[in-house]
Amino acid sequence: PIHQSEYLINGELITWQGETADVYSTISTTEDYQRTLLGSVPDMAEKEALQALDAAVAAYDQGQGVWPTMKVNDRIACMEKFVGQMAGKREEVVKLLMWEIGKSLPDSEKEFDRTVEYIKDTIEDYKQLDRNSAKFQKHDGVYAHIRRGPLGVVLCLGPYNYPLNETFTLLIPAIIMGNTTIFKPAKHGVLLIAPLIEAFQNSFPKGVVNIVFGRGRAVAGPIMKTGKIDVLALIGNSTSANSLQDQHPKSNRLRLVLGLEAKNPAIILPDADLDLTVNECIAGTLSFNGQRCTALKVIYVHEDIREEFNRRFAEKVDTLKFGNPWDEGVKLTPLPEAQKPSYFQELIDDAREYGAEILNPKGGETTENFIWPAILYPVNKEMKVYQEEQFGPVIPIVPFSDISEPLDDMAASNYGQQVSLFGSDVYALAPLIDTLANLVCRVNLNSSCQRGPDVYPFTGRKDSAVATLSVHDALRSFSIRTFVAFKDN
Ligand code: G3H
Repeated sequence: PIHQSEYLINGELITWQGETADVYSTISTTEDYQRTLLGSVPDMAEKEALQALDAAVAAYDQGQGVWPTMKVNDRIACMEKFVGQMAGKREEVVKLLMWEIGKSLPDSEKEFDRTVEYIKDTIEDYKQLDRNSAKFQKHDGVYAHIRRGPLGVVLCLGPYNYPLNETFTLLIPAIIMGNTTIFKPAKHGVLLIAPLIEAFQNSFPKGVVNIVFGRGRAVAGPIMKTGKIDVLALIGNSTSANSLQDQHPKSNRLRLVLGLEAKNPAIILPDADLDLTVNECIAGTLSFNGQRCTALKVIYVHEDIREEFNRRFAEKVDTLKFGNPWDEGVKLTPLPEAQKPSYFQELIDDAREYGAEILNPKGGETTENFIWPAILYPVNKEMKVYQEEQFGPVIPIVPFSDISEPLDDMAASNYGQQVSLFGSDVYALAPLIDTLANLVCRVNLNSSCQRGPDVYPFTGRKDSAVATLSVHDALRSFSIRTFVAFKDN
């Protein structure tokens, strides 16, 4: 087991003396299903949280600190040092991703590699940003040298489904733009920070990155209450985001960088290529067991092809392989959150009560740490699985006969991240694409929803997001334009 006893504050690795929280894996190696103890982390509270905050505030020093005033090339050198050291930790981090959150080996490797790539791309984009800001503009006799500066102290909180990638998607651009940070890893996917903590300590000046552990309520709440946080950066659920925002005494002035819930629909038109559509819907609904904010969470299928689509989709879902993350060809893996199978069962029972059936014979079969994907049909607005972001292997299918039906549902939804549109007639699709783009932020043609490649804008309308998180946009989300002006005398 890994007993992570150190936390990072003000450039120092401090040994924790207080209570610890055990970290268990959902994966068991025993016949009688015992969750595996992976290790423990400090269960920190207000006092240490505020020490971390003080360190970040002092390092920022109202924009006068070493880091916010550091030359661009020196800041880049720190980030390059960090990513170089991080790259050497691949094996350890990948292993922890598999054990802590049950992500398959190929997906865990992808998460690590993609994150390294994200940091390298961020460095390149930052260089470009700096080159551009070196150019002068002139309007009406006034020259301007426009550049980008930091915003202040950033609190970063990432999710359990991408504990490395998405947390770093917030942290890395925040750091490189000259902000100072406090970062608390997610509850699941917390130990994988252990192999990286020294790289943070070695690479950045003191106080730039402060790493704390503990429950959000105990750690993040007190930090927000001080009013000293300039940016709340969170990928997760809106309940946590709202509560943290509300605790800030000047919440209306707090800047937000948020990635929240989504209910991305697939819309399948009568002329869709069904082989392709079935494959994309499987990837979209069930990659990492559907535990992605970008997952397809509802499928609208046209009446004319619904029978054929439902049959093929249900057949294929039941052929997917369930197993441990390192098993060859595995597609479905244990769920990291112990309470989730019972929530999914609740959604299934509720839908059945309102008249839906499970289309696939294996649908809803449960073991200690898993529930087999259940395809529910026909789903309607009365059902919880239609209303809630299920974030897991329960797949609602809604039939439609006129395109206005899914469009009206999307317009009425609280969410607006992405949509997948399946159909062959490009002339019919063209006007529809314009309408869909006004309802969500990414329209995927004949392909499932996803975030990557990470250079493309990742955002959402309504309750799905605040700010944009591509490599390029994130640098802007964590900075403000400043400029020096002078006259042509
Ligand atoms: O949970 C949301 C993630 O950003 C999903 O990313 O689409 O690359 O799996 P992905």
